[in-house]
Amino acid sequence: MQATIQLSEEQIRQYHDQGFLSLPALTTPEEIELMREAYDRIFAERAGRERGDQFDLAGSDEEGKQAALPQILSPSKYAPELANLQAWVNAKAIASQLLGGEAIYSGDHAILKPAGHGAPTPWHQDEAYWDPMLEYQSMSFWMPLQEANEANGCMQFVPGSHKLEVLEHHSINHDPRVHGLETDGVDETQAVACPLPPGGCTIHDSRTLHYAGPNRSDVPRRAYIMVFGLEPSERKTPRSFPWNDKKKTARDARAREAGDPKVPGASSADD
Ligand code: NI
Repeated sequence: MQATIQLSEEQIRQYHDQGFLSLPALTTPEEIELMREAYDRIFAERAGRERGDQFDLAGSDEEGKQAALPQILSPSKYAPELANLQAWVNAKAIASQLLGGEAIYSGDHAILKPAGHGAPTPWHQDEAYWDPMLEYQSMSFWMPLQEANEANGCMQFVPGSHKLEVLEHHSINHDPRVHGLETDGVDETQAVACPLPPGGCTIHDSRTLHYAGPNRSDVPRRAYIMVFGLEPSERKTPRSFPWNDKKKTARDARAREAGDPKVPGASSADD
């Protein structure tokens, strides 16, 4: 399958300057329909729960308690039809264009904000979840499977923040049972909201500060995220992300019990 999108010089310049980019369509309406069906099926099944791939990103993830922000890591493992779609091929081609080398897939995830419910996703940088020993050149494609706007939790970014180092983060509400991270002190007056039609996408660097509000609408907000980047390299200057070592999540406990321990910093994600 060939990519059907090529970025303009202006879009490439904008991405490197601002740390994010918004595209009106990453794929066809037919494909979005197919993705939405797969998405709803795996959330209804809570696919991957026993392995720690399905969990509540913003809460303590207790059984019987409604999740604030249900998430599935690697949804394409549970719904293989999500991979090798036009959206995927286009994301890989765009990432390669932006990075000037062949980008490789490094993960996908899905975050559902239930109708009239769903917590905000607090300000954070994605790299804060990852391995502090590695140097990344990586980006996330955030694709809503219905319209996304400020009322249902579209993405918001701080322009230029991708040029910062990884800031100090902590678990949401300072609760180590919560997987989700946040960073304090972001100047929200700088934030740019990116409403999108279904199947559009935003692209952001692993250090770009971003946030998504709660879902105040009467339909679920489905976001599908693909991460592409160059092969990470060993960092020359060491750093540590102590906020990940402090976590004691039910999700990690389930993964350990299933014999599938989650390595801190590996393939963790959010939004
Ligand atoms: Ni994020």
